Amino acid sequence: MINITVEDRIGNRQDLDVPEDVGLNLMEVLKAYEYDIQATCGGMGICATCHIEVLKGAENLPDCNDNELDTLDTLPDADNNSRLACQIRPNEDMEGLVIKIKALQEV
Ligand code: FES
Repeated sequence: MINITVEDRIGNRQDLDVPEDVGLNLMEVLKAYEYDIQATCGGMGICATCHIEVLKGAENLPDCNDNELDTLDTLPDADNNSRLACQIRPNEDMEGLVIKIKALQEV
């Protein structure tokens, strides 16, 4: 189990216990904690509705693949710290990660 901190769209932070050995990606973890993530593509890295900003620990994440970069490129509010949560599989190197949810809320 690792600990990551999640900041929601209005700035509230919560520490989450995240299992790193059950095969869930970070988008699925956030949904399990009832964050409002649409994930319309089901984790294929093409809808961008799981857009997050990494506030701390980016150096411990695997690099983006081309697909993730292409999708992030379509977002007007993406920056160098942007990632797609569905493309990140928690592992022990990610202890202490701090992320902020950037994707727009479902309307
Ligand atoms: S769930 Fe669609 S890009 Fe992550």
